[in-house]
Amino acid sequence: MSVLVDNIGELVTNDDGEGLLGLRRDVAVVIEGERIAWIGPAAQAPAADQRIDAGGNAVLPGFVDSHAHLVFAGDRAAEFGARMAGEPYTGGGIRTTVAATRAATDDELRRNAGRLVAEALRQGTTTIEIKSGYGLNVDDEARSLRIARELSDETTFLGAHVVPAGSDPGEYVDLVRGPMLEACAPYAKWVDVFCDRGAFDEDQTRAILTAGKQKGLSLRVHANQLIEGPGVRLAVELGAASADHCTHLSSADVDALVNSETVATLLPGAEFSTRSPYPDARRLIDAGVKVALATDCNPGSSYTSSMPFCIALAVRDMRMTPAEAVHAATAGGARALRRDDIGRLRVGARADLIVLDAPSHLHLAYRPGVPLIKQVLHSGVPSNHPAAAPNSTEGPLS
Ligand code: NIG
Ligand code: FE
Repeated sequence: MSVLVDNIGELVTNDDGEGLLGLRRDVAVVIEGERIAWIGPAAQAPAADQRIDAGGNAVLPGFVDSHAHLVFAGDRAAEFGARMAGEPYTGGGIRTTVAATRAATDDELRRNAGRLVAEALRQGTTTIEIKSGYGLNVDDEARSLRIARELSDETTFLGAHVVPAGSDPGEYVDLVRGPMLEACAPYAKWVDVFCDRGAFDEDQTRAILTAGKQKGLSLRVHANQLIEGPGVRLAVELGAASADHCTHLSSADVDALVNSETVATLLPGAEFSTRSPYPDARRLIDAGVKVALATDCNPGSSYTSSMPFCIALAVRDMRMTPAEAVHAATAGGARALRRDDIGRLRVGARADLIVLDAPSHLHLAYRPGVPLIKQVLHSGVPSNHPAAAPNSTEGPLS
C-alpha cells in the first residue's frame, strides 16, 4: 500500500533543506508500507494507491517523547493544588503514587497507560518512552514494565526512583541492582536512576547503573532536577544516552555535556507544574550541547502528555527559538533514544508524520493551547484508522 502526501505548505525534514529544520516547500512525500519511499518536487510525484491532501499546511516528523512515566494509578491533583498555594515540590509524593499503583489491578494500570498513550498520539507523539518506578518492589516493577512493553519498545527500568517507605536505603539499592534488575531486564531497554536530593546519591547511582549496563541495558539518568548534584557528570562518565532535567548545572556539567554523546533532555512541564525556575536552554545550546524536549508525563511533577505545550513553554520561557524547540521535540528526542529511524523525514525513515492545522511549525508556539494536530500517521497508518489503536499490533508507540 502506498500513500502520497501532497499540497504541503512547509515540510520539516530535520534533514536536507533550509536551516536547522531542513525546511522544504513545493514537495510531496510518498510512503510505502511503514517507510518513507520518496520525497521530491510535488510536480514530479509518482502515483500512489491513496492520497492525503495536506491542505497547504505544515507537515512535520511525529514527536518523539523520550521521557514519560505512564504506568501508575491515581492522581495527585491535591498535591498540585497545594503547590500552587505555596508548598515546595520535593519528590516525596512519589510514595503516594506507589501505594495507589501497588493496589491497582493489571487491567487498571494497562487502561490508564493506554489512555495516556492515545492522548499523546492525538497530540502528535508517535514514539513514547515509558518508565517503571511506581512499583518499587520486584513484582510491581516487573509488572509495570510488562505493561509498558505492551505499549512501547522504549521501556525503562526505574526501580531507583525513591527508596520506598520503610526500607533501608542500602538494602534497597542491593535489591534494585540484584533481584529487581533480574526480573525487570527482560522487559526493559533502558535503566534510569533518580540521582538527586531525597533520592539516590552518587555511589548508589553508579552501583545501579553499572549493574544495569552489565545486564545489557542502556543508560539514562534523572539528573540535577532539584540541586546541582553529581547526576550529569555520572551520566556522561558512564555513557548514558540522556541526562534528564538538567535544571541546576555547574560550568563543569555543561562542559562535560558538550564533549559527550549524552543528550540534555529538558522537561519544562516539570518546572511549570512545580513552579520552579526553568533550565537554561540557551546556555546549553550556545555551548553546543545536544538538547531534547520531553513531557515527563507523570501524576506528580508534570501531568501533561502534550509535546506542543512543552514546545510553547520552551520557546516562551526557556528562550529557545521555535525551530530549536521543534527540532528538540523530534530529532532531539530520537537522539536521546539513540534512534535514527525516527525524528526525521527522509527516504527509509519510519513514516511518522504530523499534518498541522496551520501553515508553519511556528504556530506550535505562536498558538499555545490550540489543538493544531490535524492528522497523525504512525508507521504509515493514519491514527484514526482502527489498526492504530494503542493496544492493537500497529499501536505501540516505540
Ligand atoms: O521526573 N524526578 C523524579 N521523577 C519524576 C517525578 C515523579 C513524581 O513526582 O511522581 C520527575 O519529575
Ligand atoms: Fe521523570
